[in-house]
Amino acid sequence: MISHKTLRRGAGAVAALTMAFAFTACGNGGGSGSDESSSGDLTTIGFVAVGPEGDWRNANEQNIQDTFTADAGFDLKYAPAEDLDQASQIEAFDSFVDEGVDVILLSATEATGWEDSLERAKEAEIPVILLDRGIEPDDTSLYVTRIAPDNVAVSESVADWAVSEFPDGANYYVLEGPAGVSVVNERNEGWDSVMDSQTAFSKVGAQTANWSAEEAKSVVETVLKANNNDIQLIFAQNDEMGLGAVQAVQEAGLTPGEDVKIATIDGTKGALEALADGELSFVAEYNPLFGDIALDVVEKTLAGESVDSYIRVDSTTFDSPEAADKALPDRKY
Ligand code: AHR
Repeated sequence: MISHKTLRRGAGAVAALTMAFAFTACGNGGGSGSDESSSGDLTTIGFVAVGPEGDWRNANEQNIQDTFTADAGFDLKYAPAEDLDQASQIEAFDSFVDEGVDVILLSATEATGWEDSLERAKEAEIPVILLDRGIEPDDTSLYVTRIAPDNVAVSESVADWAVSEFPDGANYYVLEGPAGVSVVNERNEGWDSVMDSQTAFSKVGAQTANWSAEEAKSVVETVLKANNNDIQLIFAQNDEMGLGAVQAVQEAGLTPGEDVKIATIDGTKGALEALADGELSFVAEYNPLFGDIALDVVEKTLAGESVDSYIRVDSTTFDSPEAADKALPDRKY
């Protein structure tokens, strides 16, 4: 098998990248991969990851690690953030640039603050591929592509369901992911693009619960008390927060799925089980299994081929217990 490194060197000379960024597919000195002695002929990938953050994240990062194996010709260096701390991500990113890895994969814990590191990678001619999370400002000259489901569209699908589910409107509350994360802004954009014009709906409020079931439970407990349980709809930006909301609704003596309907994004097994039990009312998938797409992009990029600056990962929705029951047997995450 011709290794990516050999392919890269061969292609590099003639790489005619049409993309805005000026990475030569292979380094004349930059991005020259790790030294021959350590990973031999393997292509080195620095994965600046988020780390433990819930079922979706675990599925995504495991899928990436299961894709870029030594058998497949890769030496994947997995660098999860320490406690979701961006500084630890930037440190890992910069050390991958210093090490001269062949490619960097980045799932940013925060959208802003990446310009300097991305510029360094560009100067070193190391292609950077964004996984799931975007950067702000979104300067596509600083990275090859972003691979992710369409957060705006996924969130619009939740809002469209809510509008059809509540023809007379509802009082609703939004549980957001951490502030400063691109997908949170995009999910708000999608939801608001539909709901802002829905006069029969009234937004009681929104608050971050940091993707956490525990935090979501306590937020919803407070909100239900403060509003005499007069909330009919909760939009949780991820499954864990939605499941926390279910607990709070039950402990308030209300019935989730009847008195309060809860919709989530991710599509993990736990959420589909809760949908099958009628505790959740709608689940929009945010498909985490896109390692194969990332592999295709890495191979194309190292071969000097161009790719689109955004690659959309397909996702679906589940709007009934029956739909959940049908999907659960083969659910991988
Ligand atoms: O960036 C994607 C989000 O991160 C998922 O929706 C959430 O569950 C994860 O933690």
